Amino acid sequence: MSGFHVTRRAFCAGSAAALALRPALAAGDMPSLVAKSATRQIAPEGYPATDVWAYEGQIPGPLIRATQGERITRRLVNQLEVPTSVHWHGIRIDNAMDGVAGLTQEAVPPGATFDYDFAVPDAGTYWYHAHTNSMEQVARGLSGPLIVDEVEAPDVDRDEVLMLDDWLIEPETGQLYDDFDQPMMLSHAGRQGNLIGTNGQYRFELPAKSGSRMRLRLINAANARIFVLRLEGLSGWTVALDGMPLERPMPVMQEIILAPAQRVDLIVDVSAADGETAAILRLDDDDQWRAQAAFPVKGVQASASRGTPDPLPPNPNTALPELGDARALDMVMEGGAMGRLNAAIFEGRRMGFRDLVDRGQFWSLAGQVGMGDAPFARLDRGEAMRMRIDNRTVFPHAMHLHGMHFREVAPDGTLGPLRDTVLSIPGEATEIAFTADNPGSWLFHCHMLGHAASGMTTWIEVA
Ligand code: C2O
Ligand code: CU
Repeated sequence: MSGFHVTRRAFCAGSAAALALRPALAAGDMPSLVAKSATRQIAPEGYPATDVWAYEGQIPGPLIRATQGERITRRLVNQLEVPTSVHWHGIRIDNAMDGVAGLTQEAVPPGATFDYDFAVPDAGTYWYHAHTNSMEQVARGLSGPLIVDEVEAPDVDRDEVLMLDDWLIEPETGQLYDDFDQPMMLSHAGRQGNLIGTNGQYRFELPAKSGSRMRLRLINAANARIFVLRLEGLSGWTVALDGMPLERPMPVMQEIILAPAQRVDLIVDVSAADGETAAILRLDDDDQWRAQAAFPVKGVQASASRGTPDPLPPNPNTALPELGDARALDMVMEGGAMGRLNAAIFEGRRMGFRDLVDRGQFWSLAGQVGMGDAPFARLDRGEAMRMRIDNRTVFPHAMHLHGMHFREVAPDGTLGPLRDTVLSIPGEATEIAFTADNPGSWLFHCHMLGHAASGMTTWIEVA
């Protein structure tokens, strides 16, 4: 028998052996992401450390990074005492990997594992976080950055991830206030921390050179805080929103508003001189501008000024949705404290759930409080949808769609940049449009996570 001649029997035996081997190999190869308890110094030095739940024990979780078109694989190992799951926020992902407990997978019990394995079609700035009781689990620390690099990176000297977060900590003990379902917070603006930081540090500093060019990837990982930011000693452009490149870099002329879960990619030049400090400032609760991230300037970068950066290469399959053929749907948002109509109470009575509010349900989307039995909409694959989100509450809401990016429709019908999370303003209607090209069950919810848990969660189905 020639060495090249493989009988059918031998071939089958060979592939069976290979198959038998494969799970063991894969198990060894798949990097793990361990969700576990840890103690971290989040408060300033001198205050006690804080017990958190964290991926690999780190705050934020480890940076997960891949190049566009690659696959990301992670074995979630649940070492917590509660079930959990991981959502890969903003990735146009295979539905089975979306991580929504109760919708796309069962929550992973304590001691168990779940293998996530998905392609990343889009370059950009994303993040991952727990999606089982996320109101509590994200507030306890279960989130981290996920970066997908362009095949050809833009011309910058540095590329930095800045994960903005806030913590509600009891100063005496350093521990998180653990009344995550506190009705006052759920029915108002959500859980706002008393300690605001970047990359898990209360005072975040990154030395930089004058004249250098940095790509800064800002991620809002807070449960409910809307960051209002300003550049100092930095000048630059917005080049991407929620991971997706802008067609043209937009000079940063005014405040940057970053709602929960939103991301912004900036390309900035350090204009502050050697010895000065550049910064990203945030507008604080007491109306003061304070450093969210400080860049003490040390030294000068000997490079000629580079002018406006090139746009980032566009991501695939991001054609504008056909508004003319789009299915138009309305979503009225009601409820919350001092809502014009306390829809939660109203709906609760109508449906015979008199104890709805007692159970901490305060908000409704399109007349429904929380996940009902049916999706908000069923769409055919490829169908365009436009949805008018009518905010009849007195609070802003950060509305997030899983699995697909959408565009805001301006009153004149023009389409804005791709986003996965839009800030809905009280008393205003926001219209979004997208092509439903990713099959599966996709959540649509407020990313003020207490609101999501108290009624503002629904889903759409794409067949
Ligand atoms: Cu970032 Cu449904 O979440
Ligand atoms: Cu909300």
